[in-house]
Order: sequence, then structure tokens, then C-alpha cells
Amino acid sequence: MKLEYASKYNKKTIAVFVKKTECKKHDLSSSESEHEKIFKCLLNDKNYTTCMPYAIAENDGKRILFVTYSEVKSYENETWKMAGHNLLKAMKDNHIKNIDVDLSSLAPETYSSLCLGMLLSSYSFTKYFGEKKLSCLHIIDSITLVSSDKKNTETAIKSAQNVYQHVAWARDMINEPSNAVYPETFVSIAKKECKSRNIKVTTIDMKQMKTLGLNGILAVNAGSKNPPAMFIGEYKNPKAKKTIVLVGKGVTFDSGGMSLKPADSMVTMKDDMGGAAAVCGALFLLADKQVNANIIAIAPLTDNKTGSGAQNPGDIIKMYNGTTVEVLNTDAEGRIILGDALAYGVKKYKPDYIIDIATLTGACPVALGKHASGLMGNDKKLIEAIKEAGDTTYERVWELPMFSEYKDQLKSQVGDIVNTGGRGAGTIVAGFFLSNFIDETKWAHIDIAGTAFLDAPHNYLPQGATGVGVRLLTKMVKNLIK
Ligand code: BES
Ligand code: MN
Ligand code: ZN
Repeated sequence: MKLEYASKYNKKTIAVFVKKTECKKHDLSSSESEHEKIFKCLLNDKNYTTCMPYAIAENDGKRILFVTYSEVKSYENETWKMAGHNLLKAMKDNHIKNIDVDLSSLAPETYSSLCLGMLLSSYSFTKYFGEKKLSCLHIIDSITLVSSDKKNTETAIKSAQNVYQHVAWARDMINEPSNAVYPETFVSIAKKECKSRNIKVTTIDMKQMKTLGLNGILAVNAGSKNPPAMFIGEYKNPKAKKTIVLVGKGVTFDSGGMSLKPADSMVTMKDDMGGAAAVCGALFLLADKQVNANIIAIAPLTDNKTGSGAQNPGDIIKMYNGTTVEVLNTDAEGRIILGDALAYGVKKYKPDYIIDIATLTGACPVALGKHASGLMGNDKKLIEAIKEAGDTTYERVWELPMFSEYKDQLKSQVGDIVNTGGRGAGTIVAGFFLSNFIDETKWAHIDIAGTAFLDAPHNYLPQGATGVGVRLLTKMVKNLIK
């Protein structure tokens, strides 16, 4: 979908935004007198004075699409992203391929959110559709933003396109099935993105893992024919005062291992590398923005399978930082690979902050559903930076308590800790498990098990991968270096 600027109208259909103040009253956003005239006629039409999300009026061969939007209370950006999404929806419903958008009386500060809403809403994963299926899709060719403010409009388009590019990259990576995206292919796809951006790439392969003692990742990988990898991308800014490490869970398929998942729970488990996709997307976006910080993205990559070498319940692993873990359930594999990656990140890069993001626990969507990710951490400023980023981007987070009593659930009879702590507070206990691998570093953990992948579309979030985390982490970094 093309998104571009023009100073004049030249398409058959013009979109105008209308604010839905209450059910029956609408305020036209446009200051174009002709649009206002047509809008007034429309208001007299009794079919319109309902809660319609949009309305169409014709005049002199021109068609005007009035797209309603409502204020999302205390979420300014979301109001405009939703307006952009409503426009896309109206275009799809009415098979409109090209449109001019009247921006004449919207504030320039709204433009980039408006554009981002349109772009996020335009996403679809169609790579594996046959020709017949493709021909039935409704494809939008172009949206032209018409205003007299060329500079602000073009800047907003560019910035939204840049954000969208990386969200779409993460969505694609996650939507790709596990026979296309596995550790080796993940690394080679991510490497390509780094090349053009001056991001240094290091890949730790299986042999190096053995030398280094990244035994947690090796243990989870033991039942797989695909070798593991740890992808590390480093963006360095010579003026940087802060170093921030982002660690993303990269389980390219989670069968549960020997503690096998039931078939129904396994269906969407290609999404279990959503954290890895998010940290890479954020790294690329931050590098494009030349952010004033050193950013290191680390993605431990493996699948979790049941091959003959697979780890068994009861096995004990000596992790990279020396902690011994009694594996009670091989399906709690994410925390094992993250434990090694966090300890490695802390030791190697001595960061000011380390943040991990992971589709970690099924308990998280039980508690928070799909509208908030779980958040834990040991540093107030970092927690606040993430909460604020969540509200700004609408990738909202909710903080869970770190009461020390929860730690008791990780006590082991035979090792330092167990990897699962019973049925209660599953998300919190998993967070506590990770806290064993960060020393004194300022750390936060984001559980995206409920927000990374949707069964059905929700507004501008498509069915399947949402790309959650790319925008959240990017904004978090900006908040931390303010
Ligand atoms: N990848 C899953 C968590 C998950 C569940 C993500 C649903 C997305 C949707 C994770 O590896 C897992 O299996 N966790 C177990 C932990 C349990 C064995 C303590 C779970 O949540 O059931
Ligand atoms: Mn699992
Ligand atoms: Zn998992």
C-alpha cells in the first residue's frame, strides 16, 4: 500500500474524518467548505444519524467517505491510530482502492499516529496464498494525504513507514511457520537487516555454546535436529552514555518437549520466538533513528522437541552462571534459555539496563488476556519507562508483584532451583526464576504470551502475529535516555 502526500485532490473518493462525540452528534474535522456542505446534507439524511462507523455521499461525480472516529480517553495517539484504522476498514468494506484524505483541519501532531494506524491496519500475511486466493483479496493501492502542510505531512509519513517496516518484519518472522523460521534461518534473515544498518552481528553456534557453558540453551535444544544459535546484534553510538541489552525468547517451535503439550495448545507455538523478533525489530528501528545509546539485542534460538537426546523431567542443568536447575517440566523451557542469555548479556556487556521479553507463560493471558503484557522488574525508573512506553504506544503493560514469598515456589530438593513452581502465580514465579540470572543489574521482564499472537483480528492488530514489543521497547529506550 502506497502512502503519499499531495497538495491537491485528484482521486474520485475523498475521505474526511468526523468526530463521534455522542451517538447521534458528529463534528466534521474538515475546513473545506465543499466537504462541509455535503456533510450537512448527509446529516439531514435520517439513515446517517445512527452509530454508523462511516458514511458515503456523492456530489458532482465526487464521492466523499465520512469516517468517524472517537476519542480514546487519555490515549491521544491511539485516537488517531484508530481513525487511520477506521479509514482502512471503510475502504476494504467498500472496495475502494485509492483515496484522497482531507487533512485540512487536523493538527500536524496527529499525522504520524494517523499514518501508523493506516499502515498497521494494512498488514496481511499472504506469502503462502495460491493465485486463486490472492485474486479474492481486496488490495488497497494508495492513500494520498492532502494538505497544505507538505513538510509535516511528509515527515509523518516517513516516520510511520519506518516504524511499520519493523513491526511488519517482526510480524512476518512470527507468522512464518517453524519449517521456514528455525535458528539457522532466523539468524540469516536478521543478519541481512543488520548489514545495511551498521549493526555488528555475532552468532554463537552450538560448538561455542559448549565451550562457553551455555548449558541451558543446549539442554532445551537436546531433543532437536536443528542446532541452536544465539544471535547478537550491536548498535553503537559513539556519543552514547547508556548501554541497554534487550533479550528476546527465541523458541522457534515449542512442542513442550518430553512434557509434551496437548495437540490444541501446540498449534500456535511457532509464535514462541515473538520476543526474539521484537528485540530485533526494536534494534533495527533504533539504529535507523540513530538513537543516542548502545543497544544490544540478544536472541537465544532453539526449538523445544522430543528427539531421542531430549532432556527428561528430573534432569539437572548447570547453567551458564553456575546455578543448577532441576527441570521438573521440560515445557518451562523459555526461562531456561533466557537464564543463560541474561547471564551472558550481563557478564559480557555490563549494561546499565537489561530487559527481556518473552512469550513465557500461559498463566499470563489467563490473568491479563490479550490487552496487556505482564511486567516485573527490580528498578523503579526502568519500570516507569516501560509503563509510560506502554501507554504511549498502546502496547500496554501491567506490573505484577515481586513479593519475596513467591521465591519459595522455586526451592529444589536436589539443585539450587526448580524450573516450575506449581500452579499458583505462574507468571510471577517464572519472573522470579529469571531474577537468578541478572546479578545486581537493573532488569525488567515483559511477558507477551497473551499479546504476541491473536486468534482473531482486533482493530489494527491482525489475526496472528501482532509484532508487540517493537514499538514498546523502542519507546522505552527513548524514555530511559531522556
Ligand atoms: N511458550 C509457552 C507459554 C505460552 C503459552 C505462550 C501460551 C503463548 C501462549 C511456555 O514455554 C510454556 O509452555 N509455559 C508453561 C510453563 C509451565 C510448564 C510451568 C505454561 O505456561 O503452561
Ligand atoms: Mn513451553
Ligand atoms: Zn515456550
